[in-house]
Amino acid sequence: MKPVIFDVDTGIDDALAMAYALSSPELELLGFTTCFGNVPVEEATRNTLAVLEMTGKEIPVYEGADQTFKRGIKPEWARIVHGEDGLGNVLQSTPSNRAASSSAEDFIIEQVKSRPNEITIIAVGPLTNVARAINKAPEIIPLVRDVVIMGGAVNVPGNVTPYGEANIVADPEAADYVFSSGLSVTLVGLDVTMETLLPLSQVDRWRNVDSNIAHFFADMTEHYIGAYESFYPGIGGCALHDPLAVGVVIDPGFVQTEFMKVSVITEGEETGNTVGYKDSEPKIRVCTGVDAPRFLKHFLSRMTEVMSFS
Ligand code: BDR
Ligand code: CA
Repeated sequence: MKPVIFDVDTGIDDALAMAYALSSPELELLGFTTCFGNVPVEEATRNTLAVLEMTGKEIPVYEGADQTFKRGIKPEWARIVHGEDGLGNVLQSTPSNRAASSSAEDFIIEQVKSRPNEITIIAVGPLTNVARAINKAPEIIPLVRDVVIMGGAVNVPGNVTPYGEANIVADPEAADYVFSSGLSVTLVGLDVTMETLLPLSQVDRWRNVDSNIAHFFADMTEHYIGAYESFYPGIGGCALHDPLAVGVVIDPGFVQTEFMKVSVITEGEETGNTVGYKDSEPKIRVCTGVDAPRFLKHFLSRMTEVMSFS
Protein backbone atom coordinates (compact mmCIF):
# COMPACT_ATOMS: atom_id res chain seq x y z
CA MET A 1 0.00 0.00 0.00
CA LYS A 2 1.24 3.47 -0.87
CA PRO A 3 0.82 5.99 1.97
CA VAL A 4 -0.97 9.05 0.63
CA ILE A 5 -1.95 12.54 1.79
CA PHE A 6 -4.77 13.75 -0.41
CA ASP A 7 -5.07 17.54 -0.88
CA VAL A 8 -8.48 18.59 -2.23
CA ASP A 9 -10.70 21.63 -2.92
CA THR A 10 -13.74 19.44 -2.89
CA GLY A 11 -15.93 20.08 -5.85
CA ILE A 12 -17.46 17.35 -7.97
CA ASP A 13 -14.42 15.71 -9.58
CA ASP A 14 -12.57 15.93 -6.26
CA ALA A 15 -15.45 13.96 -4.71
CA LEU A 16 -15.20 11.37 -7.49
CA ALA A 17 -11.44 11.19 -6.93
CA MET A 18 -12.01 10.72 -3.19
CA ALA A 19 -14.41 7.86 -3.90
CA TYR A 20 -11.89 6.26 -6.27
CA ALA A 21 -9.12 6.55 -3.68
CA LEU A 22 -11.32 5.30 -0.83
CA SER A 23 -12.19 2.18 -2.81
CA SER A 24 -8.59 1.43 -3.84
CA PRO A 25 -6.70 -1.05 -1.63
CA GLU A 26 -3.42 0.04 -3.23
CA LEU A 27 -3.59 3.29 -1.24
CA GLU A 28 -3.21 3.94 2.49
CA LEU A 29 -5.03 7.25 2.99
CA LEU A 30 -3.37 9.03 5.91
CA GLY A 31 -5.54 12.13 5.75
CA PHE A 32 -7.22 14.71 3.57
CA THR A 33 -6.05 18.30 3.52
CA THR A 34 -8.31 21.04 2.15
CA CYS A 35 -7.67 24.21 0.22
CA PHE A 36 -9.73 27.06 -1.25
CA GLY A 37 -10.40 26.59 -4.97
CA ASN A 38 -13.68 25.35 -6.37
CA VAL A 39 -15.28 26.79 -3.21
CA PRO A 40 -13.97 28.67 -0.12
CA VAL A 41 -11.87 26.45 2.15
CA GLU A 42 -14.56 26.08 4.85
CA GLU A 43 -16.89 24.65 2.20
CA ALA A 44 -14.14 22.43 0.78
CA THR A 45 -13.67 21.04 4.29
CA ARG A 46 -17.44 20.57 4.73
CA ASN A 47 -17.71 18.80 1.38
CA THR A 48 -14.75 16.55 2.14
CA LEU A 49 -16.30 15.57 5.48
CA ALA A 50 -19.67 15.03 3.77
CA VAL A 51 -18.21 12.68 1.16
CA LEU A 52 -16.36 10.77 3.87
CA GLU A 53 -19.55 10.48 5.92
CA MET A 54 -21.43 9.27 2.85
CA THR A 55 -18.83 6.53 2.27
CA GLY A 56 -18.69 5.58 5.95
CA LYS A 57 -14.90 6.00 6.02
CA GLU A 58 -13.18 7.61 9.00
CA ILE A 59 -10.11 9.45 7.77
CA PRO A 60 -8.97 12.73 9.33
CA VAL A 61 -9.44 16.01 7.48
CA TYR A 62 -7.10 18.98 8.01
CA GLU A 63 -8.17 22.43 6.87
CA GLY A 64 -5.63 24.48 4.95
CA ALA A 65 -5.28 27.70 2.99
CA ASP A 66 -8.12 30.17 2.57
CA GLN A 67 -6.14 32.47 0.28
CA THR A 68 -3.22 32.44 -2.14
CA PHE A 69 0.39 31.79 -1.14
CA LYS A 70 2.01 35.15 -1.78
CA ARG A 71 -0.63 37.76 -2.48
CA GLY A 72 -3.36 36.67 -0.05
CA ILE A 73 -6.05 36.70 -2.73
CA LYS A 74 -9.32 34.78 -2.53
CA PRO A 75 -10.00 33.95 -6.19
CA GLU A 76 -13.27 33.41 -8.02
CA TRP A 77 -15.03 30.22 -6.97
CA ALA A 78 -16.19 27.68 -9.56
CA ARG A 79 -19.86 27.44 -8.56
CA ILE A 80 -20.90 27.71 -12.20
CA VAL A 81 -19.25 24.31 -12.81
CA HIS A 82 -19.60 22.57 -9.44
CA GLY A 83 -22.94 23.99 -8.21
CA GLU A 84 -23.78 26.37 -5.35
CA ASP A 85 -22.58 23.85 -2.75
CA GLY A 86 -19.62 22.64 -4.84
CA LEU A 87 -21.24 19.20 -5.06
CA GLY A 88 -23.80 19.72 -7.83
CA ASN A 89 -26.43 21.02 -5.36
CA VAL A 90 -26.95 17.52 -3.93
CA LEU A 91 -25.69 18.16 -0.40
CA GLN A 92 -28.65 17.67 1.92
CA SER A 93 -27.22 18.01 5.40
CA THR A 94 -24.18 19.33 7.23
CA PRO A 95 -21.75 16.57 8.18
CA SER A 96 -21.56 15.80 11.87
CA ASN A 97 -17.77 15.34 11.95
CA ARG A 98 -15.32 18.24 12.19
CA ALA A 99 -11.85 18.88 10.82
CA ALA A 100 -8.89 17.96 13.02
CA SER A 101 -7.22 20.74 14.97
CA SER A 102 -3.85 20.97 13.23
CA SER A 103 -3.43 22.79 9.96
CA ALA A 104 -2.98 21.15 6.57
CA GLU A 105 0.62 22.32 6.26
CA ASP A 106 1.58 21.08 9.73
CA PHE A 107 -0.02 17.70 9.04
CA ILE A 108 1.94 17.39 5.80
CA ILE A 109 5.23 18.33 7.52
CA GLU A 110 4.68 16.01 10.47
CA GLN A 111 3.68 13.01 8.33
CA VAL A 112 6.51 13.40 5.82
CA LYS A 113 9.08 13.66 8.62
CA SER A 114 7.70 10.59 10.35
CA ARG A 115 7.80 8.48 7.16
CA PRO A 116 10.72 9.78 5.07
CA ASN A 117 10.70 8.86 1.36
CA GLU A 118 7.40 6.99 1.69
CA ILE A 119 4.58 9.48 1.30
CA THR A 120 2.93 10.50 -1.94
CA ILE A 121 0.94 13.73 -1.87
CA ILE A 122 -1.92 13.81 -4.35
CA ALA A 123 -2.87 17.48 -4.89
CA VAL A 124 -5.97 18.24 -6.94
CA GLY A 125 -6.63 21.87 -6.03
CA PRO A 126 -4.48 25.02 -5.95
CA LEU A 127 -0.99 24.18 -4.68
CA THR A 128 -1.07 26.56 -1.71
CA ASN A 129 -0.91 23.94 1.07
CA VAL A 130 2.06 22.16 -0.52
CA ALA A 131 3.83 25.49 -1.09
CA ARG A 132 3.21 26.54 2.53
CA ALA A 133 4.50 23.21 3.86
CA ILE A 134 7.79 23.30 1.93
CA ASN A 135 8.21 27.01 2.67
CA LYS A 136 7.85 26.36 6.40
CA ALA A 137 9.93 23.16 6.42
CA PRO A 138 12.16 23.00 3.31
CA GLU A 139 13.94 20.01 4.83
CA ILE A 140 10.96 17.85 3.83
CA ILE A 141 11.56 18.45 0.09
CA PRO A 142 13.86 15.44 -0.42
CA LEU A 143 11.73 13.32 1.95
CA VAL A 144 8.50 13.38 -0.11
CA ARG A 145 8.23 10.36 -2.39
CA ASP A 146 6.23 12.22 -5.06
CA VAL A 147 3.66 14.98 -5.44
CA VAL A 148 1.11 13.95 -8.04
CA ILE A 149 -0.66 17.11 -9.16
CA MET A 150 -3.80 17.63 -11.20
CA GLY A 151 -2.97 20.92 -12.80
CA GLY A 152 -1.61 22.74 -15.78
CA ALA A 153 -1.88 22.57 -19.53
CA VAL A 154 1.59 22.21 -21.05
CA ASN A 155 0.90 21.43 -24.71
CA VAL A 156 -2.82 22.28 -24.85
CA PRO A 157 -4.98 25.38 -24.15
CA GLY A 158 -6.22 26.19 -20.65
CA ASN A 159 -9.74 25.80 -19.33
CA VAL A 160 -10.30 29.04 -17.42
CA THR A 161 -8.28 31.25 -19.76
CA PRO A 162 -6.82 30.45 -23.19
CA TYR A 163 -3.54 29.68 -21.38
CA GLY A 164 -4.34 28.59 -17.86
CA GLU A 165 -5.82 25.59 -16.07
CA ALA A 166 -8.02 26.33 -13.03
CA ASN A 167 -5.81 24.95 -10.22
CA ILE A 168 -2.73 26.79 -11.48
CA VAL A 169 -4.54 30.05 -12.28
CA ALA A 170 -6.01 30.04 -8.76
CA ASP A 171 -2.51 30.30 -7.23
CA PRO A 172 0.21 30.61 -9.88
CA GLU A 173 2.92 31.64 -7.41
CA ALA A 174 2.31 28.53 -5.31
CA ALA A 175 2.50 26.32 -8.40
CA ASP A 176 5.73 27.92 -9.61
CA TYR A 177 7.24 27.57 -6.13
CA VAL A 178 6.36 23.87 -6.01
CA PHE A 179 7.55 23.09 -9.55
CA SER A 180 10.91 24.80 -9.03
CA SER A 181 11.48 23.51 -5.49
CA GLY A 182 13.25 20.26 -6.28
CA LEU A 183 10.27 18.19 -5.05
CA SER A 184 9.61 15.05 -7.08
CA VAL A 185 6.53 16.09 -9.09
CA THR A 186 4.23 14.32 -11.54
CA LEU A 187 1.99 16.72 -13.41
CA VAL A 188 -1.36 15.36 -14.54
CA GLY A 189 -2.67 18.25 -16.61
CA LEU A 190 -5.33 18.98 -19.17
CA ASP A 191 -2.97 17.38 -21.74
CA VAL A 192 -4.25 14.05 -20.45
CA THR A 193 -7.31 14.71 -18.29
CA MET A 194 -9.36 16.18 -21.14
CA GLU A 195 -9.11 12.77 -22.82
CA THR A 196 -10.76 10.97 -19.91
CA LEU A 197 -14.44 11.60 -20.53
CA LEU A 198 -17.12 10.00 -18.39
CA PRO A 199 -20.35 9.73 -20.44
CA LEU A 200 -23.83 10.18 -18.97
CA SER A 201 -24.74 6.61 -20.00
CA GLN A 202 -22.25 5.22 -17.43
CA VAL A 203 -23.50 7.53 -14.69
CA ASP A 204 -27.09 6.46 -15.39
CA ARG A 205 -26.07 2.89 -14.51
CA TRP A 206 -25.30 4.03 -10.96
CA ARG A 207 -29.00 4.86 -10.65
CA ASN A 208 -29.81 1.14 -10.89
CA VAL A 209 -28.23 0.69 -7.48
CA ASP A 210 -30.74 1.31 -4.71
CA SER A 211 -28.58 3.22 -2.24
CA ASN A 212 -28.22 6.83 -1.10
CA ILE A 213 -24.58 6.90 -2.08
CA ALA A 214 -25.30 5.71 -5.62
CA HIS A 215 -27.90 8.43 -6.13
CA PHE A 216 -25.64 11.03 -4.52
CA PHE A 217 -22.82 10.32 -6.97
CA ALA A 218 -25.18 9.97 -9.95
CA ASP A 219 -26.96 13.29 -9.29
CA MET A 220 -23.74 15.12 -8.55
CA THR A 221 -21.98 13.82 -11.65
CA GLU A 222 -24.98 14.50 -13.86
CA HIS A 223 -24.70 18.15 -12.80
CA TYR A 224 -21.01 18.14 -13.78
CA ILE A 225 -21.74 16.59 -17.16
CA GLY A 226 -24.41 19.25 -17.73
CA ALA A 227 -21.83 21.96 -17.01
CA TYR A 228 -19.38 20.34 -19.43
CA GLU A 229 -22.03 20.16 -22.14
CA SER A 230 -22.75 23.87 -21.70
CA PHE A 231 -19.07 24.85 -21.95
CA TYR A 232 -18.11 22.29 -24.61
CA PRO A 233 -21.29 21.50 -26.62
CA GLY A 234 -21.30 17.92 -27.89
CA ILE A 235 -18.32 16.83 -25.76
CA GLY A 236 -20.23 13.73 -24.58
CA GLY A 237 -19.24 13.65 -20.91
CA CYS A 238 -17.19 15.26 -18.15
CA ALA A 239 -13.43 15.15 -17.79
CA LEU A 240 -12.16 13.01 -14.92
CA HIS A 241 -9.43 15.49 -13.97
CA ASP A 242 -8.91 14.71 -10.30
CA PRO A 243 -9.65 10.96 -10.54
CA LEU A 244 -6.86 10.59 -13.12
CA ALA A 245 -4.32 11.91 -10.57
CA VAL A 246 -5.45 9.12 -8.23
CA GLY A 247 -5.28 6.64 -11.11
CA VAL A 248 -1.67 7.59 -11.85
CA VAL A 249 -0.70 6.78 -8.25
CA ILE A 250 -2.52 3.45 -8.36
CA ASP A 251 -1.08 2.51 -11.76
CA PRO A 252 1.54 4.78 -13.36
CA GLY A 253 1.08 2.71 -16.53
CA PHE A 254 -2.14 4.60 -17.30
CA VAL A 255 -0.01 7.49 -18.63
CA GLN A 256 3.07 8.26 -20.67
CA THR A 257 5.38 10.93 -19.27
CA GLU A 258 8.20 13.23 -20.34
CA PHE A 259 10.69 15.00 -18.09
CA MET A 260 10.89 18.79 -18.39
CA LYS A 261 11.18 21.90 -16.31
CA VAL A 262 7.81 23.64 -15.97
CA SER A 263 7.62 27.38 -15.23
CA VAL A 264 4.42 29.18 -14.41
CA ILE A 265 3.72 32.64 -15.77
CA THR A 266 2.59 34.80 -12.84
CA GLU A 267 1.89 38.16 -14.51
CA GLY A 268 -0.17 39.45 -17.43
CA GLU A 269 -2.73 37.84 -19.69
CA GLU A 270 -0.88 34.50 -19.73
CA THR A 271 -1.02 34.18 -15.92
CA GLY A 272 -1.24 30.52 -14.99
CA ASN A 273 0.34 29.29 -18.21
CA THR A 274 2.54 26.24 -17.54
CA VAL A 275 5.47 26.39 -19.94
CA GLY A 276 7.65 23.31 -20.46
CA TYR A 277 11.43 23.45 -21.16
CA LYS A 278 12.99 20.11 -22.08
CA ASP A 279 16.62 21.18 -21.56
CA SER A 280 16.38 22.93 -18.18
CA GLU A 281 16.40 21.92 -14.50
CA PRO A 282 14.74 21.02 -12.19
CA LYS A 283 12.80 18.57 -14.29
CA ILE A 284 9.41 17.23 -13.31
CA ARG A 285 7.43 14.35 -14.83
CA VAL A 286 4.76 15.71 -17.18
CA CYS A 287 1.99 13.38 -18.38
CA THR A 288 1.75 13.67 -22.16
CA GLY A 289 -0.33 10.62 -23.08
CA VAL A 290 -3.02 8.48 -21.45
CA ASP A 291 -4.65 5.12 -22.04
CA ALA A 292 -8.07 6.64 -21.40
CA PRO A 293 -10.20 3.50 -22.06
CA ARG A 294 -8.15 1.39 -19.61
CA PHE A 295 -8.24 4.12 -16.96
CA LEU A 296 -11.99 4.67 -17.39
CA LYS A 297 -12.67 0.94 -17.03
CA HIS A 298 -10.62 0.82 -13.83
CA PHE A 299 -12.28 3.94 -12.40
CA LEU A 300 -15.76 2.58 -13.15
CA SER A 301 -15.03 -0.79 -11.61
CA ARG A 302 -13.93 0.89 -8.38
CA MET A 303 -16.99 3.18 -8.44
CA THR A 304 -19.16 0.08 -8.57
CA GLU A 305 -17.64 -0.90 -5.24
CA VAL A 306 -18.30 2.57 -3.83
CA MET A 307 -22.01 2.15 -4.56
CA SER A 308 -22.20 -0.55 -1.88
CA PHE A 309 -20.48 1.54 0.83
CA SER A 310 -22.66 2.80 3.64
C1 BDR B 1 -9.45 21.27 -11.94
O1 BDR B 1 -10.16 22.46 -11.55
C2 BDR B 1 -11.18 22.14 -10.65
O2 BDR B 1 -12.35 22.81 -11.00
C3 BDR B 1 -11.35 20.65 -10.69
O3 BDR B 1 -11.74 20.15 -9.43
C4 BDR B 1 -10.00 20.15 -11.09
O4 BDR B 1 -9.17 19.96 -9.98
C5 BDR B 1 -9.61 21.08 -13.43
O5 BDR B 1 -9.06 22.16 -14.13
CA1 CA C 1 -10.08 19.89 -7.72
